[in-house]
Amino acid sequence: MVSLQSLNTFGVKASCDELITVTSVAQLQELCLASQESTIILGGGSNTLFVNSPSTVWYIDIKGKEVIKEREDAILLRIGAGEDWHELVTYCIEQNWGGIENLALIPGKCGAGPIQNIGAYGVEIQHVLQSVSVVERSTGNRLEFHVTELGLGYRHSFFKGEWKDKYIIDSIVMRLTKDGHHEIKSHYGAIQNTLTEMDVKSPTIHDIYTAVVKIRSSKLPDPKEIGNGGSFFKNPIIPIGQYQKLLVKYPEMPSYPIDDVTVKVPAGWLIDRAGWKGKQVGNVGSYAKQALVIVNHGGADGTEVLNYSKQIQESIMDLYGINLQREINVI
Ligand code: EPU
Repeated sequence: MVSLQSLNTFGVKASCDELITVTSVAQLQELCLASQESTIILGGGSNTLFVNSPSTVWYIDIKGKEVIKEREDAILLRIGAGEDWHELVTYCIEQNWGGIENLALIPGKCGAGPIQNIGAYGVEIQHVLQSVSVVERSTGNRLEFHVTELGLGYRHSFFKGEWKDKYIIDSIVMRLTKDGHHEIKSHYGAIQNTLTEMDVKSPTIHDIYTAVVKIRSSKLPDPKEIGNGGSFFKNPIIPIGQYQKLLVKYPEMPSYPIDDVTVKVPAGWLIDRAGWKGKQVGNVGSYAKQALVIVNHGGADGTEVLNYSKQIQESIMDLYGINLQREINVI
């Protein structure tokens, strides 16, 4: 038995019979050809809640950063799936490469980025992604998909839907700006406020990076200190009619427009107003500074976390008639 406790950011106790560390594409292809049974693929373990103990786990640790094309104003960068996401963002800022500064401090590995189209502060990885290279599990063949083929949406891609368990991402290619950085995105309220505090009027990509690191470290728990997987639920998208009815009872309920018929409401707000923020049941609780984050205060197992999350889902359904969906993958 191999412990998976240090390989999941919730820090829940879990184990597997066999853990294989995958460090190259060739090894991944060989493994796929040799084994037809289902295996669990693990990257940074920051979006995974282990409830059951899997038999085999492949830990994807394929490294590498390679500039594959360079122009005066932009580069194409291929990054191994096993590179740490935040270290990559920091590296890009040091090189003065722009595009992912808003995504600083997102936990996890680069290969996981496209799976749920990671996003924060007005940017999603789909804005900079060029393509994704994968190994097909059933054949060991290597394929490259263009960003437009991945079915990317809000915290979603085909990798979570119709392609589930079909491919394993070995590297991603991103298009980053080299100079000028005309696409700096500082419109998000929290960023604006932090830039004002920092007394910055014309932000550089480095300023945005610094602001995002400040905001995230003040609101989100560091998994090294307290077990968690970031946002546990997705922000629900509901019909405008339902939202308008809810507004009568909760006039201050925030929302973000989606289209003519639906709006997105922040799950953190719903959970907070339902009284869960800072609450603790046994070893599990809702983070005191951001109700969307479920934390392991120490000693919780996956089932305890999952049961707690179900209590939140029930209470949100009772109170607002809204079905909260998990962002976290349960295994
Ligand atoms: N809010 C509350 N109480 C709370 C938490 C939030 O009232 O306890 C309210 C806030 O005041 C604000 C609104 O809810 O009006 C939205 O909150 P926030 O700006 O913190 O963002 P979020 O919608 O809760 C999303 C992402 C985060 C991302 C931030 C910033 C999802 C599921 N989560 O959170 O992503 O960092 O926006 O862009 O979309 C993650 O996926 O793990 C993650 C942390």
